[in-house]
Amino acid sequence: MVHLLRKGDHIVAGDDLYGGTCRLFEKVFAKWGLAVSYADVDDPASFAKSMRPNTRLIWVETPTNPLLKIVDIRRLAALAKRSGALLAVDNTFATPFFQRPLELGADLVVHSTTKYLAGHSDLIGGAVVCDRKRVYERLKFHQNAAGAVPGPWDSWLVLRGIKTLAVRMRQHEDNALCAALYLRWHPKVSRVYYPGLPDHVGSSLARKQMTGFGGMLSLELKGGRRAAERFFSRLKVFCLAESLGGVESLACYPALMTHGSLSKEERLKRGIGEGLVRLSVGIEDREDLLEDLAGALG
Ligand SMILES: Cc1ncc(COP(=O)(O)O)c(C=O)c1O
Repeated sequence: MVHLLRKGDHIVAGDDLYGGTCRLFEKVFAKWGLAVSYADVDDPASFAKSMRPNTRLIWVETPTNPLLKIVDIRRLAALAKRSGALLAVDNTFATPFFQRPLELGADLVVHSTTKYLAGHSDLIGGAVVCDRKRVYERLKFHQNAAGAVPGPWDSWLVLRGIKTLAVRMRQHEDNALCAALYLRWHPKVSRVYYPGLPDHVGSSLARKQMTGFGGMLSLELKGGRRAAERFFSRLKVFCLAESLGGVESLACYPALMTHGSLSKEERLKRGIGEGLVRLSVGIEDREDLLEDLAGALG
């Protein structure tokens, strides 16, 4: 989608973002003459302040990876329109079941289909969705010319996965909410990030633009890296893995995995500390999951 831009164009991206997306902006597209600035997703005015006359794309995730922050899509859509830029929303965490960014004014929606849409951690794929013919034609031209197309088998697996998306998402959400409530009061956990918790800073916005909160949550362990290592080594049902969105529960250590490509200073600036653990809560029996978390926390 960044191929819609030209040399010299500028991108404003939210500052809580999958580390691989930052890597792509900074290590690949920067060499092609595209500049990126990061706006503070906690400060709604920060996007407007980061805009330049040559800004052509605003890129956000919501909920964000890994801190589950909620970004106001309607507000950014208005800003993009005023500025002659496109708004792209990475909807991987929410899925179309819980959030429909095009209906809120976004121009483009991006999904890693590897995750919830396929739902079984058995393929790698992506999708870009738009509702304007001109943008679609430009993307289609680029895809045809540059050749990044999914294979038929992977495409079939995604289509098959989508048939159970609704049931899976409801179960992911039920389990995630229970896990969040359990962890919220655990003495070894200092903070839980889940937009379905009433004290989450983005909770009221999430209620306005989403129909559910999804299956992803993060937690801050007291005791930093050692506590995190102990936690991962004791898990039995949650599997240590970088991916997310599959039927099975996964636990990830952002500091070394999804955000390992950021420098330590950059990571800490973005709130990704040594005690941060991200959970992709699966659809297994809820009691098994709670028991596993309890055992891992000791
Ligand atoms: C929010 C988000 N978008 C995109 C991606 C990239 O996904 P893929 O590895 O399928 O390209 C990830 C990967 O974790 C992600 O978390």
